Amino acid sequence: MTNVKAKNFPKDFKWGVTISAYQNEGKWNTYGKGKSIWDTFTNEPGFKKGNGNVATNFYHHYKEDIKRAKDLNLDVFRFSISWARILPKGTGSINPKGVRFYHDVINTCIELDIEPWVTLYHWDLPQTLENKGGWTNRNIIDWFSEYVEFCTKEYGNKVKKWIVLNEPMSFVGLGYFMGMHAPGKKGILNFLPAAHHTTLCQAIGGRIVRKNVENAFVGTTFSCSVVKPVNRLVKHKRAAERIDALLNRFFIEPALGLGYPTDSIPGLKQIENYFKEGDKELMQFDFDFIGVQYYFKIVAKHSLLPPLLFATEIPATKRNVKTNNMGMEIYPKGLLKMLEKFSAYENVKDIYITESGVCFDDKLKDEKIKDKNRIKYLKKTFYYTLMALEKNSKVKGYFAWTLVDNFEWAEGISARFGLYYTDFVTQKRFIKKSGLWLQKFLSKR
Ligand code: NOJ
Repeated sequence: MTNVKAKNFPKDFKWGVTISAYQNEGKWNTYGKGKSIWDTFTNEPGFKKGNGNVATNFYHHYKEDIKRAKDLNLDVFRFSISWARILPKGTGSINPKGVRFYHDVINTCIELDIEPWVTLYHWDLPQTLENKGGWTNRNIIDWFSEYVEFCTKEYGNKVKKWIVLNEPMSFVGLGYFMGMHAPGKKGILNFLPAAHHTTLCQAIGGRIVRKNVENAFVGTTFSCSVVKPVNRLVKHKRAAERIDALLNRFFIEPALGLGYPTDSIPGLKQIENYFKEGDKELMQFDFDFIGVQYYFKIVAKHSLLPPLLFATEIPATKRNVKTNNMGMEIYPKGLLKMLEKFSAYENVKDIYITESGVCFDDKLKDEKIKDKNRIKYLKKTFYYTLMALEKNSKVKGYFAWTLVDNFEWAEGISARFGLYYTDFVTQKRFIKKSGLWLQKFLSKR
């Protein structure tokens, strides 16, 4: 593998870093903030992985942290707004302290000359809305619209880059089908309505941004995985196709006017039970860009469960492959495949890798973190991104996940993804070797 240099990338290629509200802000029930589903989920006695009550205390450390991003020579700082910090009850009265906080974050980015990219929804639904059914309730369209109207009118003169949703398949699949993420709901009867309402909000949110923000550049993000069959048997190939349809096509294709991928998963037609007249059009929106978020590869096989999908994954830990410390297969080449796949959609315009990273059990020793594996990962990832560019993919930027180690959802603080190490007791941050490497790499542009 040749040694990739930042100079090899186009001049206007954007380099950034991504963080999210719940995983970093802390101050979960103060400064006027309402509770979100993640506050509830992680504070239940049955949840054993800690919580984001303090997280990395970005609420009080945002200035130094944005400076840390700038110090890495990055162009973009992507963060999300906590809906319940702005609208504590989800709709209705506004929390002025929350509104001020995001002005301060945005202003800091502008002062430091690092461009703010704002995600409207990164999984932390206000709990009051979940009490009414959350994403399974079609009224979410009105609730979400009210929130997006407010944010875009409030910040739209300063922020031009907007992302409507972060990884819909993750929050709907894990939160409303598998019960592994907040709000912990399970089953197809939660999944299908939640998924359909999410698809509608994705497009409706995009339209609101474009209406309210002059010169807006609006996108939305998708999680994705390379999916391979366990062997060449037709039944396993078909199983891999179905998992691919679910994980990689489900939310983008309706936006592009292609509908849900029922060609591969016929049982998915049941989702039409939740359609109202006009929904097919309402689901479509011509995003200026899409965000691709790639972390791991999946190996699939045919199986009798779960229904509709009839396919299951063979865990990486049973396959004798390299894994991250969440047990997922590390496979940087998959990013190339994903960039090719998404670039092949005619109506996809620009693509940004809005998240990419790897978690290891990093150890702090003499104030240093020698994370050679992460440097290797970055080098390979940049190599395949460049290869994708050479193959005419539409990729225009790369944002690393993430700035400082933070609260990794159901994994708690054990999965460290940061370019900086966080000591969660003292809240001190230490730059990792990978952070220093990236800083140097980007200095030579
Ligand atoms: C994607 C999610 O958007 C982010 O919140 C999460 O921490 C990373 N994946 C790593 O799992």
